[in-house]
Amino acid sequence: MTSPTEEPPTLNRSQKILWRNSKVIPGGLASINRKTEPLIAFVRGQGAYLWDIDDNQYIDYHCGFSPYILGHNDPDQNHAAIAAMESGRSNYGSGPTEDEGELAELFLRCLPMADKVQFLNSGSEATAQAIRVARAWTGRDHVILIQGSYNGNQNVVAANLMSTADQLGGQPVVGDEYPVVPITAGTPLAEQAHLHPVEFNDLEAVRCVAERYDIAAMITEPALQNIGVVPPAPGYLEGLRRLADTYGFLLIFDEVKTGFRTGLGGYQGLSGVRPDLSTFGKAFANGFPIAALTGKVAPMDLAISDDPVKRVLISGTYNCHPVPVAAAIACLRKLMDPALDVYGHLEQLAQQLEQGQCELFARHGITATISRIGSAHCVYFMDHVPSNWWQLMSEHDHQFDLHYRQAMIDRGIYHFPIPTKQGSISFAHTDSDIDQTLKATDHVLGLLVNTR
Ligand SMILES: Cc1ncc(COP(=O)(O)O)c(C=O)c1O
Repeated sequence: MTSPTEEPPTLNRSQKILWRNSKVIPGGLASINRKTEPLIAFVRGQGAYLWDIDDNQYIDYHCGFSPYILGHNDPDQNHAAIAAMESGRSNYGSGPTEDEGELAELFLRCLPMADKVQFLNSGSEATAQAIRVARAWTGRDHVILIQGSYNGNQNVVAANLMSTADQLGGQPVVGDEYPVVPITAGTPLAEQAHLHPVEFNDLEAVRCVAERYDIAAMITEPALQNIGVVPPAPGYLEGLRRLADTYGFLLIFDEVKTGFRTGLGGYQGLSGVRPDLSTFGKAFANGFPIAALTGKVAPMDLAISDDPVKRVLISGTYNCHPVPVAAAIACLRKLMDPALDVYGHLEQLAQQLEQGQCELFARHGITATISRIGSAHCVYFMDHVPSNWWQLMSEHDHQFDLHYRQAMIDRGIYHFPIPTKQGSISFAHTDSDIDQTLKATDHVLGLLVNTR
């Protein structure tokens, strides 16, 4: 028998890396959700492509959990990041910089509904800060969450993502709250008591919870993009706005995924519904680590309140580090450039992919529905787009989805191999990438059709 200290002889090169790392990193990698089947160690990314340690090439639709809107290693962005270092910029930790001001101006130009912005390092920091601001603003503690909305790794939001039917009490809840299902151990019961998960697209549930508790904030992705692409029903976001105004809580749109991917103005720009606060990350820096909290001037200015009881701490050693700031400025300039027409290109490719997939699923007689918002897309193996997690959990063919993703990866098309995870297209993708993807889809469906 192989002892745990000896490397098992049958490991492939990717598994060897995980095995070696596992001696010093719990689980062998820095973010446990990256541990998938198949396990692939990537070594390079350029534009729309990834290469693994065995030099296999993939067309990438995972895009690093969706930040890469321009594609991997965008040359203009890399140039800007390198230039920032070569020009002697450093993370001084004292005083303002012109660059953070320039980034803020560009950012707010894209988001006319936001008055002010603060930059942080990760989406999880941004969402936790948003709720802290809302609690300080309202003087209340309770928070409404959405079942199936991922809003980061902090206690205050890390609950009710892909919960099982058993965890939710065995039946869908309409017009009321679900039990809290933390997605991490270590969440004190006292904190859980302040969380109230409800289904997406259920305004009555929000009203019911707001009647029962003093709600500080409701946070939701405006379209759920951590369980594929679940859009809000017509009138839902407007209804949330009215409920927030009626009950006096702050409405927080978590646009870490939808922001700058739906369009320059985020989902708020598309819907026309103005949140009190919103959070961003991912696409606005095309993969560099920076995030943002934006919102209306009064709650944002709590960071500088004269009243120490109301003042919210927003600080961080690495906030606005010059390298991600330079990268984000370069990314925003490209996203805003009418001559490049980034969003036009993305829409054209995404339509081409959607149309081709629809034809192929119909031809192979496979029940599937494609949900898409711009370049964010997902194939659901069910006969309609789900409107909430319960429908998705109970009607989607999760097993077939997994096999489909794994078979596509075998053919060089990389979708994250976890059922219902959203796919993304980048500006670096081409017509020919889409054609190749559709050819692989045709082949894979031919193989899988008899396994259902
Ligand atoms: C909608 C949403 N909010 C927040 C986060 C957390 O962001 P980060 O992983 O940068 O902490 C994510 C990450 O996937 C996300 O998708």
